[in-house]
Amino acid sequence: MSSQMTAQVNSSRAVKVNLGCGPSGIDGWINYDWGILPLLSKLPVLQKVVFGAKLIPSFYFLKWPKLRLVNIKHKLPLKDNSVDYIYFSHVLEHFEPWEALSVLKECKRVMKRGGVLRIVTPDIRKMVNIYLNSGGNTRAAKILCNMWWGFDKDKQPANFLGKISRSFTREHLWNYDEEEMEALIRSAGFEHLTWVSIGTGEVPDIDKLDSLSMENTSLYVEVKKI
Ligand SMILES: C[S@@+](CC[C@H](N)C(=O)[O-])C[C@H]1O[C@@H](n2cnc3c(N)ncnc32)[C@H](O)[C@@H]1O
Repeated sequence: MSSQMTAQVNSSRAVKVNLGCGPSGIDGWINYDWGILPLLSKLPVLQKVVFGAKLIPSFYFLKWPKLRLVNIKHKLPLKDNSVDYIYFSHVLEHFEPWEALSVLKECKRVMKRGGVLRIVTPDIRKMVNIYLNSGGNTRAAKILCNMWWGFDKDKQPANFLGKISRSFTREHLWNYDEEEMEALIRSAGFEHLTWVSIGTGEVPDIDKLDSLSMENTSLYVEVKKI
């Protein structure tokens, strides 16, 4: 049996947690998310009323996975040394650096020895390279700024609905390159990390979890608790 097949067999029994899963969480994982949209996903009648009355713009009407409402900035509701895999994609940049550090320390607490944490965030170096290689006439600064803050920050809300929509938008509070990410990971007490790329690594299901649309601007790292 190949090592990939062995990993797949074992992964069906493994405890796998997706932190800030968003609508892209999948079955077989313990999915945590927090906010008005994941809350509404659990209250279909209220969800229908809210979206029917256009209190929230329709593009926020997303199909959410089965999830638990957990604010991951607080202590995770998981026992020490109990988790095999954590998937943590495009969430850390929405936290202040000290909040990011506290979440990673929590990850270390709940992970088993040999457990793997996969982190995906925007990559400063990739974003700046896109800017530098833009050829000068493509509104490169606008593109960079919108990648930096994580949404079309230059668009003035057109109306009341747009203002509501803006208030739901969680912008990026910090960004990382490999050096900053490594410093954060080591500050949280991890000693072993591997730089990986989209779709590669030890964490199961990454072919379903990693988003292709983010590849050109993201960094990918897997952290092992030894
Ligand atoms: C940019 S989305 C990323 C979603 C998904 N992980 C992905 O890679 O497609 C960020 C997600 O983090 C969630 N999130 C933000 N702050 C959170 C918190 N304090 N606790 C739990 N989830 C949070 C948001 O609700 C949102 O679903």
